[in-house]
Amino acid sequence: MPALGPQAPLRLGGSTGLLRSVLSRPQRLGALTRPLTAPLMARRHKSGPYGYTQAKTLVFSKFGEPSDVLHLHTHSISPQLPEGAVLLRTLAAPVNPSDVNTIQGIYGVKPQFSPLLGTPEPSVIPGNEGVFEVVAVSAGVSTLRRGDWAIPATTGFGTLRTHAVAEHADRTLIPVTSHEGLTPAQVATVSINPCSAYRMLRDYTDLIAASVASFSKDPSTPGGAWFLQNGANSGVGRAAIQLGRLWGLRSINVIRARATEAETEALKASLTSLGATVVLTEAEFLDRAFSSTLKSLTRDGRDPVLLGLNCVGGKSASAIVRALSPKGTMVTYGGMSRQPFMFPTGPQIFKRLRFEGFWLSEWARENPGEKRKTIEEIVALMQDGKFEAAPVEEVKWDWETKETVLKEAVQGTLEGFRSGKGLFVFGET
Ligand SMILES: NC(=O)c1ccc[n+]([C@@H]2O[C@H](COP(=O)([O-])OP(=O)(O)OC[C@H]3O[C@@H](n4cnc5c(N)ncnc54)[C@H](OP(=O)(O)O)[C@@H]3O)[C@@H](O)[C@H]2O)c1
Repeated sequence: MPALGPQAPLRLGGSTGLLRSVLSRPQRLGALTRPLTAPLMARRHKSGPYGYTQAKTLVFSKFGEPSDVLHLHTHSISPQLPEGAVLLRTLAAPVNPSDVNTIQGIYGVKPQFSPLLGTPEPSVIPGNEGVFEVVAVSAGVSTLRRGDWAIPATTGFGTLRTHAVAEHADRTLIPVTSHEGLTPAQVATVSINPCSAYRMLRDYTDLIAASVASFSKDPSTPGGAWFLQNGANSGVGRAAIQLGRLWGLRSINVIRARATEAETEALKASLTSLGATVVLTEAEFLDRAFSSTLKSLTRDGRDPVLLGLNCVGGKSASAIVRALSPKGTMVTYGGMSRQPFMFPTGPQIFKRLRFEGFWLSEWARENPGEKRKTIEEIVALMQDGKFEAAPVEEVKWDWETKETVLKEAVQGTLEGFRSGKGLFVFGET
């Protein structure tokens, strides 16, 4: 389970409670406060009475489709932070497919519904990724200062909210020490997809060593070791292309065709400009002619395809099994088509293939230091202009933004073809 879930800020408050439902605030503050009448509620108070921060969060109290089960909840956060905690303001937070699967109740981990937010039913705050600005720091925090940017160290933080309190901030947050030249959108999307791409390219097969070995054996080798991936236009796919190029690897990338030839060609060109060596549509990849294309790309197997990354499943995944070279490894990390796949028997046996599953959350739980280093490395690449964030469709989240707008943005994550991942960008909150 995540180290810091939606319950955490509430635990901090102990008997006084850090987060309080706005609706019950008049009772708690007694005669000192006015009831929150409609005209007063309509006005925005970034700071409530006595330094309380007014905050809003998406929550869900049962599993289902985001448009059915998400609600926008308003609460306030006490200015008295416990030792080791920081108060955060959200700058940007993407909606990833896993966020929607978590709300649907079909993800690998089911979050615990908590009564502590003061919602009518026990609830959970969705969202695993985002970037925050530190707005207040309590005693005992050594790695963060006011004004710094920070990203959650683990998934399950609950990022689809305007503000958060992070306890044990030195451990639960990764500071972005210098964010000069970076946008919130870039930093908000670094910790899950680029980090996953990085680990999958490095931790299963040593492609860099394989490249060096082929060059030393045959200096006429036309490029580095090959990897193959479907879902190549996803956040993970685009990150893998770029990291692969930086590490001298060659990549075969499979995408879904667009409605017109021209749109498909434009998408292919966009991935090629990122560093993809070859880009194919699913239809081209599944076509019989692909085996001769593969033969010529790999110089009849002399430059083997040692790693396949699969986030689609179905026929596309089976085709990766067929395309891998002997002793190749296939890593499955997603199932966007929602189709199971057949493992062709012959290739498994005669090519002695290896099949692995990758799950970032578990990897990060087991390797917290490595996760920090991976993120720091990718952030540095972004600052050097060597790594581009995946395209996003920005959805502005201001204090006045309606619940329906936020819910629709989350619901849209798994629907149809999109020009980019949905990303909440927080303005006047
Ligand atoms: N296991 C892990 O730790 C881990 C970590 C990160 C991500 N993931 C998984 O990786 C996958 C991609 O995530 P992301 O955030 O990078 O994605 P994303 O940027 O939100 O993009 C979604 C991708 O899925 C493709 N897609 C959607 N429906 C599809 C279908 N029916 N058939 C084939 N492709 C389809 C889209 O293709 P188009 O480009 O054609 O629209 C798009 O490229 C998801 O399954 C996610 O859960 C897993």
